[in-house]
Amino acid sequence: MSDVRHLQALASDIAREAGGLARQRRAEGVSLAATKTTIADIVTDADREVEVLIRSRLQAERPGDGFLGEESGGARSSTGVTWVVDPIDGTVNYAYGMPAYSVSIAAVQGDADPSSWTALAAAVCSPVLGELFTAARGEGAWLDGKRLAVNTETPAGALLATGFGYDPATHDGDLATVRRVMPLARDLRRIGSAALDLSYVAAGRLDGYFERGLKPWDFAAGALLVEESGGVVSRFDTASDRPMLIAAGPDLHERISVLLDK
Ligand code: IPD
Ligand code: CA
Repeated sequence: MSDVRHLQALASDIAREAGGLARQRRAEGVSLAATKTTIADIVTDADREVEVLIRSRLQAERPGDGFLGEESGGARSSTGVTWVVDPIDGTVNYAYGMPAYSVSIAAVQGDADPSSWTALAAAVCSPVLGELFTAARGEGAWLDGKRLAVNTETPAGALLATGFGYDPATHDGDLATVRRVMPLARDLRRIGSAALDLSYVAAGRLDGYFERGLKPWDFAAGALLVEESGGVVSRFDTASDRPMLIAAGPDLHERISVLLDK
């Protein structure tokens, strides 16, 4: 098995196991552990427990690899490979009992910096639906074994998704962005998990996705899924604290970029 296929298999196994734990904890009842950057930015005990599980599995299998996780910070890599992990993406959905949350695991080569790393392998598990999206660099992307491809035609307008920052001060700007893009849209979704938004673009369930202010763990796995499904992912304003990410098939990506990249 090639290296990227090996990383993909490992990410997949751990994402499935972690998804099972998240689902079990949700069924038992979820309690808020803390708020983070703003009162809307929450973490539950399950986020932390799931990240501990993922980190310990990776540490056991590949002790020299680096780690960048939403809840427990980082560890430097001695192998060149770093794991970028969001234990529960869509924590607000999770806390409210909505099914749109996911476990997102990516292996990247290079520094733990999305502007310079090369993503190698990805797994996004949607535990409630029992779906596993995976990708390996240069080999493709799959949903439970079925090869994925982005949509390339949007004759009735594009089905788009976006998200909003937790800081209320960002809402006006994000809504202005939505207003700019809406002429391209047949409709707009706000699913609440960036990793699922990107997985759904890869699977052709959405035509495109854009959002400002994502953290590396929100999109590390999903961006590789989109690229390995024939889509384009770009980021701009990366020096700001709220870079914009756009993901779609090549033609739609270009049309969204023209509207937003100014
Ligand atoms: C959030 C989700 C949400 C997106 C936010 C993210 P979290 O991640 O991906 O869809 O709009 O920007 O922070 O906090 O649930 O892990
Ligand atoms: Ca997240």
